[in-house]
Order: sequence, then C-alpha cells, then structure tokens
Amino acid sequence: MYYEKLDDFPKNFLWGAASAAYQIEGAFDEDGKGPSVWDQYAKVPGNTFKGTNGDVAIDHYHRYKEDVALMKEMGLKAYRFSISWSRVLPEGEGRVNEAGLDFYRNLVRELKANGIEPVATLYHWDLPLALQEKYGGWESRKTIAAFREYCQVVFEALGEDIRYWVTFNEQNVFTAMGYRWGNHPPKKHDVKLMFEMNHNVNLANAVAVSLFHKMVPGGKIGPSFGYGGVYPKTCDPDDVLASLNADDFNNSWWLDVYCRGHYPAFTFKALERLGIAPEVTEDDRKLLEAADARPDFLGINFYHGGTVQQNRIEKPVDDDGEERDYSATDPYLMQPKGDQAQNPEVPMFNSVKNPYLKTTQWGWEIDPVGFRVALREVYEKYELPIMVTENGLGAHDKFEDGRIHDDYRIEYLRQHILEMKKAVTDGVEVLGYCAWSFTDLLSWLNGYSKRYGFVYVDQNDDQTGTLDRYRKDSFYWYEKLIEQNGSDEILNGKEQTK
Ligand code: BG6
Repeated sequence: MYYEKLDDFPKNFLWGAASAAYQIEGAFDEDGKGPSVWDQYAKVPGNTFKGTNGDVAIDHYHRYKEDVALMKEMGLKAYRFSISWSRVLPEGEGRVNEAGLDFYRNLVRELKANGIEPVATLYHWDLPLALQEKYGGWESRKTIAAFREYCQVVFEALGEDIRYWVTFNEQNVFTAMGYRWGNHPPKKHDVKLMFEMNHNVNLANAVAVSLFHKMVPGGKIGPSFGYGGVYPKTCDPDDVLASLNADDFNNSWWLDVYCRGHYPAFTFKALERLGIAPEVTEDDRKLLEAADARPDFLGINFYHGGTVQQNRIEKPVDDDGEERDYSATDPYLMQPKGDQAQNPEVPMFNSVKNPYLKTTQWGWEIDPVGFRVALREVYEKYELPIMVTENGLGAHDKFEDGRIHDDYRIEYLRQHILEMKKAVTDGVEVLGYCAWSFTDLLSWLNGYSKRYGFVYVDQNDDQTGTLDRYRKDSFYWYEKLIEQNGSDEILNGKEQTK
C-alpha cells in the first residue's frame, strides 16, 4: 500500500531500548542475591556457547549510572529492563532482600531523573533456582503462588514509580526451549509437560495482571510475546490452510489466552486428540477469563517469522517443488501415537525456507515488511495498543580504534522502523519501540560474540574484557532518529550519520 506521506509518530512516542537482568547485570551472588536456574545451567559444561555465563555479564549492576548517562546522552525516552526475581526474593518466596530491591529503586530513580521512562519486565527467564529445586519450577502450581508473592513485593516497592510493566518475556520461547528442545533450563524433552507447565505460566500471567490492576491503578501491564508471522509457501489453498494452522499453533496459542482468556479451538482439539492438551479446570477458566486479567497493551518482540507448506502426509511436496512419496519413509507416519505427541505440528504444517528473504549471520530471516504485517495482524485481532518490546540485529561487530561502523545494524533498524511507521499510518496504535539492545550483552546461547547493542562493551567470550563502553555508529543514528521523532528524512536514509 502506497502513501504519499506517512503519519508522524505521536509526540510522546517511547523511543527505547531493552535488556534483561541475566544478560547485563552480573553481580550474580552479590548483596544477598540468590541463584537463578541460569546461574546453575550456564556453568554446566556444554550448555552454553564456549561456557559463557552471566556471572559478570557486562557488569551493569555496578555501572548502571554510566549506562544511564549514555542513555540520557542518546536522548532515549524509555528503557526496558528486567527484574531478577532471585535478587529480590533469594529463595523465590518468603524472605525479601531489601538490598536487591534497592538496586532497582536506584536504577528507576536514575532513569527518571534523566527523563527516561522505565519499562520493567517481571520475568525474563531467570527463575529462582530454589523454586526449580523445591517444586520443579513452573511444573508446579506452587510456583504461581510464589510468583504472585514476588509481584506483590515489587508492585509495592516500585508500582508508584514505574508506569509500564511486562509480565513474561517470550513465554513461547522459554517454555519450548526448556521443555521441548532442551537447550534452556531445565533441559527437558517432554512436549506434554511443556503444555502443562505453559498452562501454569498462563495462570501466573493472569494472576499478575489482576493483582497489578488492583495494586497499581494508573499503570499499564502486558506480556511480551515473541511473535512470528506465518506465510504460506504458495497460494495453493492447502498451503494457506497450513499457514493458518501454524499461526494458531505458534501465535494464537498464547495470544488468545492473554487477550481472550481461552485457548484457540483448533490447536486445543489437536492436542487433545494426542492426549497432550493441558488440563483446564473451571477455576482456571474463571481466572483466565476475568476482565481484570486482560492486558492493557501487548508487548511484541519481532525478529522473524516463518513460511510453511501443507503437511507432507496428505500431499508430499518437497522444497524443490518435486512430489515424492513419503508414505514409506516419513518417520511421522511410522511413529507410535506417543511419539506423534512429541511432534504435534507434523500433520498441521511443514516449515520451509522463504526464498525472498535474506538472513543474518546467524541465519535469522530479515523481514521488515513482515514486521508491518505482524503489527497489523496483532492489532486487528486483539485491538490492544502495541509496544514493540524487542527488535534488532545480532551481528559480529568489528572494533576499530574505539569505533564500530555498524552500518548493517543502522540499515536493519531503519528498514524496520520505516515499516513500523507505515503500520502506524495504516492505523495501528504503537506506544513505543524498544530496540534490542541498548548495550551489548550476553546472548543466552551465543555468548558475547553475537552483538545487538548501540553501545559496544569490551567483553569477550572468554570473559576477559575491560568492560569499557564505546558508542557505535548506530548510537549516533538512533540519537538523531529520536531527536527527529522518526522523521521521513532519516527513515528514507537521506540523513548523514557520523
Ligand atoms: C529474545 C530474548 O528472544 O531474543 C532476548 O528476549 C534475546 O533475551 C534476544 O537475547 C536475541 O536472541 P539471541 O539468541 O540472538 O541472543
């Protein structure tokens, strides 16, 4: 759709950047902090890239003032960070660690003194280890009660000072990584259990949102979802149906629960048939459907989506377009029902490459138009304001005498923000945009070499860096973009950057 002129971003648009506690703070055992599941997991040889962990990370815990000064210099309007649950409640429940709360009080004070809107995430994957050991973490409903307790403590301490809150970061990612793919803690491969624990997280989300609405009347809260739009490979109606299935399975499965209070019918029935649907009690239903459990906005993290074709069982079509008979060889057809339950999407859709999209150095598709599509889809379906809580490019950056010429990152951000502006012109209500990330930080599985920040941090995979901060070229570009409130000039690439 072509516009002669794009709408301006609203005057109070929140131009921001994001981070997460485990990826930046360090100070993993200081001032009374209890261990999280990641403190343990990352130290088991083989679990993370080159054994990297967040013991020191980029030492934000001790350097937060320096980091906020850089934010201020850039003109950042909002900063999304996460609170480490085990810094506040070292055992996950019970005893409160005031020193831990003080760190966040001080950070928020510093942000506000510099005119930066804090956006706090309650849970960015670092579950207190004590809860994993005592209850099996999210496998138990006892962890929901502990989460409520934690929320109550932080809403009491910080509710007056923080307007925007995020409940769970990418529930779709940490549940699948932890319980299906086995590459996050607790490293399990059990799809039935994944759907059960995911249901508990849904209940915890509803509990937190309801509690927030009671305790922080002027505030806004919502989850941050890792959204991936789905394209059909062709206009063959069966491919279109497959994309509908994939969207239901990958997106609506979570978003419907957050925004409508119930699971989508298609995926729920499919899981029921395989005996792996979560058990939803009458009380659960009431809790999820309660009006005060509805989010005030939706946080969307956008990196990439996917492309699918119809399943190979009914019509075997390969990537190369050739038809082949899979009936004798497709492992799914020969699997007993229990194994089918480990691969519930096989009869629904089949993922393929998108020949139209280039990829990052890590193979993630780059799809700015898909970002506009995503914003449109989510807004039309759920009719909630959207805050883009993450979007950015992970790349190997080259440090050259204190300069980092990351024109590829500027280009990535420029294209995505331009498409977001088009989405705004289309009518989508977007509250803000938090680039991932403000400083370089620890990538959960890719160490320190996959960099996302506007600020380069001298930290290496062997964790020997000086931790000094350096402004990348993208820092100056984003500064200008904020100053001009995302003007067409800068988004059309006409502005010169340093
Ligand atoms: C998101 C997470 O999934 O993607 C972040 O919320 C993460 O915590 C980011 O760092 C980028 O992922 P990766 O694997 O490239 O570090």
